[in-house]
Amino acid sequence: MKNIIVTGASKGLGLCVTKHLITNGYHVIAINRTISTNLKNLKKDYPESLSIIMFDLANVNQIHSDIFQKELGFNRPIHGFINNAAIAYDDIISNLDYKKLEEMYRVNVYSPMILTKYIIRHMLLHKISGSIVHISSISAHTGYKGLAMYASTKGAIEAFSLNTAREWGEKGIRSNCIVAGFMETEMSSELDSQQKNRIYKRTCLKQPTSQDSVSKTALFLLSDDSSSITAQNLFVDSGTI
Ligand SMILES: NC(=O)c1ccc[n+]([C@@H]2O[C@H](COP(=O)([O-])OP(=O)(O)OC[C@H]3O[C@@H](n4cnc5c(N)ncnc54)[C@H](OP(=O)(O)O)[C@@H]3O)[C@@H](O)[C@H]2O)c1
Repeated sequence: MKNIIVTGASKGLGLCVTKHLITNGYHVIAINRTISTNLKNLKKDYPESLSIIMFDLANVNQIHSDIFQKELGFNRPIHGFINNAAIAYDDIISNLDYKKLEEMYRVNVYSPMILTKYIIRHMLLHKISGSIVHISSISAHTGYKGLAMYASTKGAIEAFSLNTAREWGEKGIRSNCIVAGFMETEMSSELDSQQKNRIYKRTCLKQPTSQDSVSKTALFLLSDDSSSITAQNLFVDSGTI
């Protein structure tokens, strides 16, 4: 069974992708702060296919000791990483609060970078040509009022992914981003229907992005079917224009 680390698997897209991975024969190592009822039920239904590590990714300095030394060890090979957990601090730039910005960078940027560091070391140790998939956001490409700070974290991850691919491609390690459009999750739940309709109008399909579609793209990027795809941003966004 291939082992895939998924951050933020307790709800939203992370939970959706975890379900798809498990039902397709993968073993998921989920990293999140809480265990939702849905995740608990998934563990009950597939006890051998899901391990859960409760960890706050804002604690960047504890990633090595708490996740890799205490929980994962070095014997279990890691075949893939889905960097999904993120927070969205939204406000207009003239209200920017440094503390909130710094926390968002710890969760959305620094933690995924440090996780990537140790996951690549694991892959090298076990001679695995692994696949790394970052979940980015269309806001980094089109721009939305109030999302400048959040979008900047996704821009950072896209640049990191491209350079990871360049640096580690010769060892067979791939890195790609999925640029997701607006999805109906808790993260986007504060928007009212008028705001949501405005976003849908900006897409070719006039609808939200499907979490299943993003999840299946992530599965494709983890699989050998995508063995020649690296250093890419794949847009799964209902054709946002
Ligand atoms: N929703 C959208 O419209 C949209 C659009 C484009 C891209 N995206 C991206 O898609 C990904 C998933 O978003 P979503 O909409 O599914 O978000 P969500 O429903 O808010 O879920 C976020 C997940 O991240 C975890 N998380 C948050 N902070 C964490 C922390 N400090 N430590 C560990 N885990 C943490 C949460 O788990 P716990 O609370 O249990 O820790 C949860 O499982 C994100 O990268 C987001 O930026 C979302």
